[in-house]
This record gives sequence, C-alpha cells and structure tokens, in this order.
Amino acid sequence: MKLKYITIFALMFGMASCIVEEEKTDDAVNHEGTTEHTEEVAHEEEAENEEVAEEASTADYSAGEEIYGKTCAACHQANGEGIPQAFPPLANSDYLMEDKMRAIKQVIEGSSGEIVVNGETYNGTMTPQNLSDQEIVDVLNYVYHAWGNDGEEVTLEEVATVKEEIESSK
Ligand code: HEC
Repeated sequence: MKLKYITIFALMFGMASCIVEEEKTDDAVNHEGTTEHTEEVAHEEEAENEEVAEEASTADYSAGEEIYGKTCAACHQANGEGIPQAFPPLANSDYLMEDKMRAIKQVIEGSSGEIVVNGETYNGTMTPQNLSDQEIVDVLNYVYHAWGNDGEEVTLEEVATVKEEIESSK
C-alpha cells in the first residue's frame, strides 16, 4: 500500500516537473520569437494605418504626389523648388501660401504675367492643367503639405466654387 502511494507521488512529481520543463521551453521559444512577433504586429499596424490614410482622401497625399510627378514636376521640379527666373518654387512659396483659391484658379486656368514669389519676379506662362476636380484636390493637397509646406486643405467644394467663379466671369 505504502509503496503504491510513493509510486503515485513519484509519478505525479515527475509529471509536474515535466510540465514545468515544458513551460520553460515554451517560454524560451516565445522569448526568441518575441522580436519577430512584435515586428510582425508593427507591420500589420502600419499596413492598417496606410489603409486608413487611403480611405481619407484629403489625408492621402500619395495620389497627389503621383499627379505632381507627372504634371507639375517638369516645371516646378520634384523638390518643388522650381527653376530660378523661369519656374517659381512651390516649396516655401509665400505666394502659394497667401491665397489658396488663387492657386486652384492657376491650376485650372494656367497663369501668365508678372508675379512675385519670395521676392523674385517671374513672368512666365503656366499652361492650364487638364485635371479632374479630384486630381486638382489631390495634387494641391500634396503641394500644400510637401517639402515642409504646412498649408491648408483643398476641398472639392472649393474647386467647384472656383470653377463657378471662372464661368460667371466669362
Ligand atoms: C509648363 C510649365 C508648368 C507646369 C507643367 C506647371 N506650372 Fe505652375 N507655374 C509655371 C509658371 C511659369 C508659373 C509662373 C506663372 C506666371 O508668371 O504668372 C507657375 C506658377 C504656379 C503657381 C503660383 C506661383 C507659386 O510658385 O506659388 C502655382 C501654385 C503653380 N504654378 C502650381 C502648379 C501645379 C500644382 C502644377 C501641376 C498641376 C503646375 N503648376 C504645373 C509653370 C508650370
């Protein structure tokens, strides 16, 4: 009888230490995998954030960046600094920051005649940009937030307002 108990006790003890051992190995595995796991989670979160950014059209500057690269960068340059005496800068442009509605108008109608940007006089011709309302919103929101610019948001309503003004002044 006594021997039986001892055996059972020994068995239980043996099992218990086995479980402890297992837990330890699990821990070790988890520990090693932790950095990888956290990175994975961080990546997933990043991807989710990107999705959120894409959903909010006004906060999504990547569409605008693409349009800028295709339509504006040839003159205003990829870094937004323009070309002295030929193309005015959009990066840190006092003229751009001064009047959002005028910027919308310039993209729609083009611009010619003398303008003064950051103290420099330009007298060139910007051709009207053939863009949809949404593209105008996207490209200007990119311009207003790129290269350290800390500008306002341009909306579809504002583009519509400018178009109405252009129509009624014809
Ligand atoms: C063919 C060259 C050309 C292209 C393409 C062009 N621009 Fe311009 N842009 C100019 C010139 C030249 C001026 C100055 C016009 C003037 O003297 O009245 C100007 C002026 C401007 C201004 C006002 C001045 C300033 O620097 O703040 C804004 C805003 C502007 N452009 C935005 C854009 C955007 C946005 C695009 C693309 C959708 C674009 N431009 C495409 C040549 C160009």
